[in-house]
Amino acid sequence: MTASPAPPQADASGSGHSRDAGGPGDPDPIDPRDPLGLAADAPLLRAYLAALDRKAAGEHAFTTPGHKGSTALAGVVVTGDFPMSGGLDTVKFKYGWLADAERRAAELFGADVCRFSVGGSTHGNQTLALAIGKPGDKVIVSRTLHRSLLLGLVLAGLTPVWVKPDVDAATGLPRGVAPERVADALDQHRDVVAVFLVEPSYVGTFSDLHEHARIAHDAGVPLVIYAAWAAHFGFHPDLPPHALGAGADAMVTSAHKALPSYTQAALVLARTDRIDGARLERAFEATHTTSPAGAIVASIDAARALLEHHGERLIGRMLETVASARARLREVEGLRVLDGAGVDPAKLAVALAGTGAHGVGVESDLIAAGMPVEMADRDTLVALVTVADDPQAVVRFTDELAASIERRRGTPRTLATASWVVQPQMVVPPRAAFFGSTETVSITEAAGRVSAELVAPYPPGVPVLAPGELVTTEALAVLSQARADGVRIAYASDPELATLEVLVDRG
Ligand SMILES: Cc1ncc(COP(=O)(O)O)c(C=O)c1O
Repeated sequence: MTASPAPPQADASGSGHSRDAGGPGDPDPIDPRDPLGLAADAPLLRAYLAALDRKAAGEHAFTTPGHKGSTALAGVVVTGDFPMSGGLDTVKFKYGWLADAERRAAELFGADVCRFSVGGSTHGNQTLALAIGKPGDKVIVSRTLHRSLLLGLVLAGLTPVWVKPDVDAATGLPRGVAPERVADALDQHRDVVAVFLVEPSYVGTFSDLHEHARIAHDAGVPLVIYAAWAAHFGFHPDLPPHALGAGADAMVTSAHKALPSYTQAALVLARTDRIDGARLERAFEATHTTSPAGAIVASIDAARALLEHHGERLIGRMLETVASARARLREVEGLRVLDGAGVDPAKLAVALAGTGAHGVGVESDLIAAGMPVEMADRDTLVALVTVADDPQAVVRFTDELAASIERRRGTPRTLATASWVVQPQMVVPPRAAFFGSTETVSITEAAGRVSAELVAPYPPGVPVLAPGELVTTEALAVLSQARADGVRIAYASDPELATLEVLVDRG
C-alpha cells in the first residue's frame, strides 16, 4: 500500500483569497509555516503542508524517498523532503494537485500550457529545443545563449543560425538583440523553424520583444524566449511585459532566480497556436525526473500565488531598493552602473573597468564580508536582488561594494570582456560535433582546429567555444585571459586549459 494523502484541510476552495485579500475580520490564525497565507490559493503548497501534518501525526510511507522522513541516518539535510508522487499526492495522482497548480500558473501568464520543472531553466531550455524542430532543422539563436540551450540544440539536433547583440562600448556588455538582425537572418535562411532569444541577458539588458514577435510571426515561425532571469517581468507597471505578454509563443523562466522558490524550480510556459502542445509535453517528460521533489514544485506554486496576490507591492519595493542602490553606486568615480531603457530595473550590474579595481578581488572582499555575489569577472559584477531582500541589507551591500572598489582602485582599463565579444564560426553543427571522434591537443596547437567541447567562463555560462566551432586565437586569448583573471572555466575537459578536445575530422 502507498501513502494516500487525505485532501488538505485548509480552504481547498481555490477561492483565490490569500491572507492580504481576506480583509478585516479574517478569522484564520496565521500559520507560521505560510506567513502570507498563500496556501489558500496554492493547491500544491497546501498539499505540502498537509504532508507535513501527516508526517507529524505518525504516517510512515512505504514509498520513496529512502530516508523515510527520518533524519536519523542522513541528518537534517533531508528535512521536509516529500516526493510529489506518493507524498504531496498519491502515487496515482488521485487529487491532481500538480495539474491544478500548473493550470493556475498558465492562467496567470496567459499560457495554454504550463509545466513546473525541478530541473531548472536548464531542463526547460532543453524541453523547448526538443519541442520545436527535428534533427537537421535550423533555428535562429542568440549567441549569448546559456550552455544549457546549446546542449538543447545538441539533444534536438538543431542547427543554429547565430544572431549577436550589440555590445555597449562604454561597458563592454551586451545590449538586446536588434530586431533587424533577426529579420535579416530570417531573410537569408528561409528554412528556419523558430527564433530562440535569451532575454534578458545575464546583465539584465533586453530587446524589444513585441517587435521580435511581429518579425518571427510574419515569417511564420514561433518566438521562444529563454527568460531564466525574468520571472518577475510583467508583474509591475515599471517592468517590461513577460515574454508571452509581449507576444512570444513560449518561455522558460527560473522561479529560483527572481522569485523566492526552491533551488532548481523553473516554469515552462507556452501558447499552442504555433507550438505543438502534445509534443511539448513529451519533450518535457522525456528529460524530466519521474520523482520531482514536492518542496520544489510546491515552492513554484507558492511563488505563483505570491506574484498573483502580492507581486506588484513586493516588486515595487524591490525596484525602489535597486534604484537607491544604483544612485549610491553612481557616486563611485569611474563605476558604470547599468541603467536606463533596455535594462531590467531590478538588476544590479556594474562595469568596473573605469575604476581600475579588479572584479574578482572585489568579489573576494564581498565574500569576506558575508555578501557573495552572483557573478564577478575582472570587469563586471552582478548582484542578484529579489523581492526577498531587505532594503537595509542592500544598503549595506552597496556601502561594502563602494568601499571595496575604493580600496582596490587602480589604473582605468580598456574593455575586453570575454563571452560577449567572441565571433563564432560554426564548421560542424553542434550535434555532429558532440558525437564526433575527438583527440586531445595541446592548447598551443588548438587554433585552426574544430572544438569538440563547450568551454564557458562561469558565470555567465555563455560559451566562448561550442562543439563544432573553429578554435580561433581570439577565443583562446579570451579564455586564457578569463582564467588568468580568476574566473572559473567551466565544462572544459581540462579546466587548466593546457589541452583542448578537438574533432579528428572537420566533417
Ligand atoms: C540564460 C540562462 N538560461 C538558463 C540558465 C540555467 O538555469 P537553471 O540554473 O535554472 O538551470 C541560466 C543560469 O544562469 C541562464 O543564465
